[in-house]
Amino acid sequence: MQIVIINGPNLNLLGKREPDVYGNKSFTDYLNELRQLFPEVKIDYFQSNVEGELINKLHETGFSCDGIILNAGAYTHTSIAIGDAVKAIAVPVVEVHISNVMTREEYRHQSYITSGARGIISGFGLDSYRLALLSFLS
Ligand code: DQA
Repeated sequence: MQIVIINGPNLNLLGKREPDVYGNKSFTDYLNELRQLFPEVKIDYFQSNVEGELINKLHETGFSCDGIILNAGAYTHTSIAIGDAVKAIAVPVVEVHISNVMTREEYRHQSYITSGARGIISGFGLDSYRLALLSFLS
């Protein structure tokens, strides 16, 4: 089983960025824990702050791996192009958010990803990624 985690803009700053919203842990540390929890799963990771690079990674991995966990960050709420890419690829995508976007500002309630995703997990902190991974195993 091969799963690709794709993180969008500003998620490289996890641990430093608004810790009251996103927590104190870096994604690198969290990823190590996740890999230890699921030794049977090959977990690849990609992060970019650039919209087109996220689309390229979706195209590159979206026909060969078993699933993609996508946190598109703020592009979730703005990017028709990333939403189209999610619909264009063959493998299932689970949309993930660390915070509960529905309890935040109204502009975060809109997602261009959800209609193409298998499902959405939002609001469980970094644990949202583990829950998304579990959904591919069941
Ligand atoms: C986020 C929520 C988005 O609204 C925000 O722009 C992010 C992170 C989350 O994981 O909670 O960058 O996707």
